Amino acid sequence: MTKTDIFPINGTDYIEFYVGNAKQSAIYYQAGLGFKLIAYRGPLTGVPDRESYVLQQGKIRFVLTSALSDDHEIARHVARHGDGVKDLALWVDDAKKSFEVAVSRGAEIAYEPYTISDEHGSVTLSAIKTYGETIHTFVERHDYNGIFMPGYEAKESPREDPSCGFKVVDHCVGNVGWGEMDKWADFYRKVMGFNLLITFDDKDISTKYTALMSKVVTNSNGNGYIKFPINEPAKGLKKSQIEEYLDFYNGAGVQHIALLTDDIIQTVSRLRKNGIEFLYVPDNYYDSVTDRVGKIDEDLEELKKLNILIDRDEEGYLLQLFTKPVMNRPTVFFEIIQRKGAESFGKGNFKALFESIEREQALRGTL
Ligand code: FE2
Repeated sequence: MTKTDIFPINGTDYIEFYVGNAKQSAIYYQAGLGFKLIAYRGPLTGVPDRESYVLQQGKIRFVLTSALSDDHEIARHVARHGDGVKDLALWVDDAKKSFEVAVSRGAEIAYEPYTISDEHGSVTLSAIKTYGETIHTFVERHDYNGIFMPGYEAKESPREDPSCGFKVVDHCVGNVGWGEMDKWADFYRKVMGFNLLITFDDKDISTKYTALMSKVVTNSNGNGYIKFPINEPAKGLKKSQIEEYLDFYNGAGVQHIALLTDDIIQTVSRLRKNGIEFLYVPDNYYDSVTDRVGKIDEDLEELKKLNILIDRDEEGYLLQLFTKPVMNRPTVFFEIIQRKGAESFGKGNFKALFESIEREQALRGTL
């Protein structure tokens, strides 16, 4: 951490999804994506109005929450957006101070700081609003040694070693409305002192038909663990995939979460075996890819078989691929990424990727 890190963040603490049926979604994340069920909160622990299931893989924690009645903020969120990401929670050393700094620099309050305790210690939480109805909770853990946080009880995963090899959250991408990308990139720079890492204009991210623009902000004055690309739609001959998202999500929200693995072949093999569906990559992608990326350690045939994409930057290369939307609405999806030196986002794959998304859009009748 350097002196210029005005807003120290240790990493992603958890990501909370508001969903229609947390109990069943929890099975998908276990059986499909290899997460382990670790904790529960709900009527059985004295919380009558909602149920939450906490899942973990590597250092990644997902919380799946459903309301138990219709007249409930969570039920309204799900009715409006479908299943989606509510909270990108950030692990900080001081949740009260982080909150005060963010609010003094222009953030809107989601909720004021409060501390919860049990026999294992205490956790302080506070939260600010970001794009759409998404929030950032600041999580301060005072050497908390219980499971997840006070109020939750341990819940054993019935599955043996379900892991697909995910280690950490690599980046979380938000889709915002027309002309709003700069506003939200500036929000992160102003409120949290993030840096602008890279900008992609519509010339970088367009196909014959559709386009988008993107700015990536990061806490790179600190550890660089937090990377938030912000997308907005751009004008093209047909409907931008970002516009499709905004229509179905009813506004801005999280588009994809990239999960880091150090063995993408193993990870994707397992995911495919578990029934997870990925975007289709045409076979001819592999005909010319080595001209672009040069020598790689992996067997190209194996990558082709699994539809894994490759890209190179000045620092190295990366391997990535994208699931189809994991919600009923074509909104949230996951990226699986392995970095072999490269710190970038796979610009060289944008064209192939977006053509593949357009193919899906056309099938849905929304291109
Ligand atoms: Fe990504």
